[in-house]
Amino acid sequence: MQKKVTVVGAGNVGATVAQRLAEKELADVALIDIVEGLPQGRALDLQEAAPIEKHDARVIGANTYEASEGSDLIIITAGLPRKPGMGRGDLLATNAKIVKSVIEQVAPLSSNAILIIVTNPLDAMCHVAFQASKFPKNRVVGMAGVLDGARFRSFIAAELNVSVENTHAFVLGGHGRTMVPLPRYSTVAGIPLTELLPPDRIEAVVERTRWGGAEIVDLLKTGSAYYAPASAVVEMAESILKDKKKILPCAAYLQGEYGIHDLFIGVPVKLGKNGVEEIIEVSLTKDEHAALQKSADFVRSFVESLISMDL
Ligand code: APR
Repeated sequence: MQKKVTVVGAGNVGATVAQRLAEKELADVALIDIVEGLPQGRALDLQEAAPIEKHDARVIGANTYEASEGSDLIIITAGLPRKPGMGRGDLLATNAKIVKSVIEQVAPLSSNAILIIVTNPLDAMCHVAFQASKFPKNRVVGMAGVLDGARFRSFIAAELNVSVENTHAFVLGGHGRTMVPLPRYSTVAGIPLTELLPPDRIEAVVERTRWGGAEIVDLLKTGSAYYAPASAVVEMAESILKDKKKILPCAAYLQGEYGIHDLFIGVPVKLGKNGVEEIIEVSLTKDEHAALQKSADFVRSFVESLISMDL
């Protein structure tokens, strides 16, 4: 493979991301984790599936960062997942320390790489990665909106009994219950959702989307979702590695866009070989703008607690 991707964290999300990257032959993959044997075992297992899955991507596992050198893309999934009863904010201090230490080790070995952050609480972890890497803002991006959008799309398709392929969803804001799904900009075969469903059904679908992560945590009991999160990461990775310039909802660093300053939060961005190549601004109603502002205030409270923790 010509491209190289490092995935830090060989747990549920990281290993599934590595599997999908290899099976789509998007890149060679270096899988890194602190647990001895885990990344090596998972990488070897994936490599042994290659003859049957018919791909020639190389997957290696390691406990140290030399294996990551020269990566085009680095995906950070290291950290704790949620357990039932936990909000993403409960992971703040622990995961911030992990993400900071990981970035300090991985970033200098791939100084031109793009970083996709997956660890929760997502928007705050993007700040940690941005500061620790000192990478320009276009090369630090967080995965949330693609996942929230996919949840929204799957619920819309079920509600209308149509193919998921006909659906497009638009989600703004932080990753969590303050997210702002926008039915006006969400469509089925190009038709706005507001033309297809009554307001109470739209509200039910939006509410289920907001709690989509918690619904899975409550079912699994031992951790959080990983198939859909991994799919979302790989859609972003593909757009970057192939320079497809897809417009996807991602956490990006805003400096005045949507009236928000110096904060990572979910907005539609154009993703290409330079990472976040453009932030797309759409017009919002007063209520939509207020909901986005509320979400931004919530994310900012996490970022401010991080500053007071002085990691
Ligand atoms: N360096 C490298 N790997 C680490 C470190 C570290 N400092 N600390 C923890 N890890 C590894 C763990 O050893 C574990 O294998 O991160 C992995 C996390 O995997 P899981 O516990 O299976 O969690 P997962 O479901 O993959 O979620 C990871 O993504 O979606 C988010 O909220 C989720 O923050 C969580 C992250």
